[in-house]
Amino acid sequence: MPLIQWNDSFSVGVRTIDSQHKKLVDTLNELHDAMLGGQARHVTGPILERLLQYTRDHFSAEEVMMASAAYPGLAEHKLLHLDLTRQVEGYIARFQHGEITLNLHLMHFLRDWLTQHILREDRNYAPALHARGLR
Ligand SMILES: [Fe+2]
Ligand SMILES: [Fe+2]
Repeated sequence: MPLIQWNDSFSVGVRTIDSQHKKLVDTLNELHDAMLGGQARHVTGPILERLLQYTRDHFSAEEVMMASAAYPGLAEHKLLHLDLTRQVEGYIARFQHGEITLNLHLMHFLRDWLTQHILREDRNYAPALHARGLR
């Protein structure tokens, strides 16, 4: 069973953003499968790094869209992105140094991190983007 099952409640109603979110969900599910399958660090490490890279790319794309829609919550949203990125970077650094392994605790942190950010913060900017014709 996948860690996260995509459903319509995750949609922010903007196609490019939804597809980026789906890619993040797919990557997290891939990481979860690798963990359950007992894959070694040389398999899981690169998936984790890919997750971080997709996250950075996604956050900057989202910030550009929010800026172009003059979304008033942009500065606050950027801080949340920065905080989330630092948390994931911290986990990855600890993983790379062998201080932690990929476990359910980390998977659940990543799942909650992604789904709660989409469901709470990302949905808030949707009306501003829609008002600018972004769908
Ligand atoms: Fe997002
Ligand atoms: Fe966001």
